[in-house]
Amino acid sequence: MERRTIGAAALAVGAVGLGCMPMSWAYSTSRQRGEESLRAVHRALDAGSTLLDTADMYGPFTNELLLGRVLKERRSDAFVSTKVGLLVGDQHIVANGRPGYVRRACDASLRRLQTDVIDLYQLHRADPEIPVEETWGAMAELVRAGKVRALGLCAVGARSSRRPGARLHDATIRQLERVQQVFPVSAVEAELSVWSPEALETLLPWCETRGIGFLAAMPLGNGFLTGTLTPGVGFEADDPRARHPRFTAEMMAANQPIVVGLRRVARRHGEHVTAAQVALAWVLSRGRQVIPVPGAKRERWVAENAAAVDLRLTERDLTEIAELPTAQGSWD
Ligand SMILES: NC(=O)c1ccc[n+]([C@@H]2O[C@H](COP(=O)([O-])OP(=O)(O)OC[C@H]3O[C@@H](n4cnc5c(N)ncnc54)[C@H](OP(=O)(O)O)[C@@H]3O)[C@@H](O)[C@H]2O)c1
Repeated sequence: MERRTIGAAALAVGAVGLGCMPMSWAYSTSRQRGEESLRAVHRALDAGSTLLDTADMYGPFTNELLLGRVLKERRSDAFVSTKVGLLVGDQHIVANGRPGYVRRACDASLRRLQTDVIDLYQLHRADPEIPVEETWGAMAELVRAGKVRALGLCAVGARSSRRPGARLHDATIRQLERVQQVFPVSAVEAELSVWSPEALETLLPWCETRGIGFLAAMPLGNGFLTGTLTPGVGFEADDPRARHPRFTAEMMAANQPIVVGLRRVARRHGEHVTAAQVALAWVLSRGRQVIPVPGAKRERWVAENAAAVDLRLTERDLTEIAELPTAQGSWD
C-alpha cells in the first residue's frame, strides 16, 4: 500500500488506516464479536493498513486489550495510535488531564497493548480544569522516557464545544498553538468526510504548513456514506447514531442524494467499486498527509476500505463530488 508520513519524525504508515472503535465501542455493541474483530485487524495489517487507531476509553479498555492480542504477535507490522484523557464513568464521560493520571494511563495502555512503546499518543480531549500545557508536558515526558514516539491531538469533539459564530476549528487551532510551544505536535485527528468537510477550511491547512499528519476520523460519515444504511434503520439504544441529528429517518432520506452521487462516481470506475471506496478516495485526495482511519469490525469492510488507496478520482469525479448537496441535519 502507498505510505504516508506523520510529523517531523516522518513516521511512515499505510495511507489508509483502521479505526478500531466499532470493535468495542459505539455502533451496536450487541454485534461486536471479538474473534471477527481479531481477524479484521490481521486483515488490515496484511493489506498494509498499518495505522491502528484506538483509545483507552473504547470499551473501556477492551479495544486496547483486543489489539494487544494482535500486537503480541505482529508488533513490527503495526503503527499503534492510542489516546488518553477521557474516563468512562457510570453516567458520564469525564476528562482527566492531570499529569499523574496521564503517566499512569500510559503505563496501563502499554500493558494492555502488550508493547513497550506507543507510536502515536493522542490527547483525546483537553481537561477544562487543567492548563493544556501541563497535560501536554506530561505527554512529552513520556516521549523522553521512550514510552511514546510521537504526540497527537484529537479535535473530534470540536462540534460540541464550538462557540456561536466561531468556525468549527478556531478553538482547536488556538489549543494546538499552545501545545506546540511545549512539544511538537506530530498529528491531529479530526472529522473529515464528504458530508463533513469543515476541517478543509482552516485545520488541514494549519497542519499542512507545519508538516503535521492529519488522521481523518469518521471518513465514512459513521457508515452513512457507504450507502449500506437504509433510512429508518433502527439503531440500538447505546449506538450514538440513535441520537445523531443526521441519522433520523427524515435526515437520512434527505441526504440520500449524497450517496447516490458517490455511487454514480463508483460505477464509472467499475462494477465492484463501492460508494465507501469513493468516499475514502476523496479523503485521500485532500492532501498528502491525510490518513483516513475508517472504522470497521468486519474483514470484508477492512479489505474493501484498504483497496480504496488504488482508486484515483478524476477531475470530473472531484467536480461532481464538490457539487453534491450540503448535508442536512445540524448539531447546532
Ligand atoms: N478521536 C475521537 O474522538 C474519535 C471519535 C470518533 C471516531 N474516531 C476514530 O475514527 C475512526 C472512524 O470513525 P467511525 O468508526 O466513527 O466512523 P466511520 O469510519 O465514518 O464509519 C464506521 C462505520 O462504517 C461501517 N463501514 C466501514 N467500512 C464499510 C464499508 N466498506 N461498507 C459498509 N460499511 C462500512 C462500519 O461498520 P461495522 O461497524 O459493521 O464494521 C461502521 O459502522 C474510529 O474507529 C476511531 O478510531 C475518533
